[in-house]
Amino acid sequence: MSEDTATTKHVNPPTPDEPTGVEPDGSVTSPFHLMKWIETHRSDFQPPVGNKYLYSGRDFFVMVIAGPNARNDFHKVDSEEFFTQIQGDIVVKTYENGAIVDHLVREGETFFIPPNVPHAPCRPAGTLGMVVERRRPPGELEHQIFYCEKCNALVEDNEFDCADIVIAFKDAMESFWEDPERSTCKSCGHRVPKPGPYVMPEGLR
Ligand SMILES: [Fe+2]
Repeated sequence: MSEDTATTKHVNPPTPDEPTGVEPDGSVTSPFHLMKWIETHRSDFQPPVGNKYLYSGRDFFVMVIAGPNARNDFHKVDSEEFFTQIQGDIVVKTYENGAIVDHLVREGETFFIPPNVPHAPCRPAGTLGMVVERRRPPGELEHQIFYCEKCNALVEDNEFDCADIVIAFKDAMESFWEDPERSTCKSCGHRVPKPGPYVMPEGLR
């Protein structure tokens, strides 16, 4: 990493009170219908990320994510992730060997992110997906990375000690987009913009 791409450390906010599968009286939460749960919580799925915890357990957590999202950050962590696409098609970008690769994940398909592969889910309007991730061990760092859309150079790598990624990532990406210094590529001068809601490119439909 060059001196220009400073790594910024963020303090993580307290984990919100999310469902753990156990009710306040100690009983196990009864089965519930996924699509009805999504409809009940529809207003909670807000850009830029559009995610909400379905389950926040000890060993893993599950998020439901509704499109559109509006983000151009990549995420890297020493953990695996499991994607399944419930409704509509999305693109998951990965950063592999210095280039950005578009993986089209169609409705009904699943997709796996191996550990330490930078990835960026791009979700058009009207889509619904689910992601399962490992609960991070204490002290494990998460990276939120911005690459230049013109030349693929690293623009910024933000490091988190992160128990909750819903709030911390949103705040971090907003402050990046607002800062012309931080969001400008040191290699080619292109500025990484705050993106609008993701729209599936013609060539991938
Ligand atoms: Fe660039």
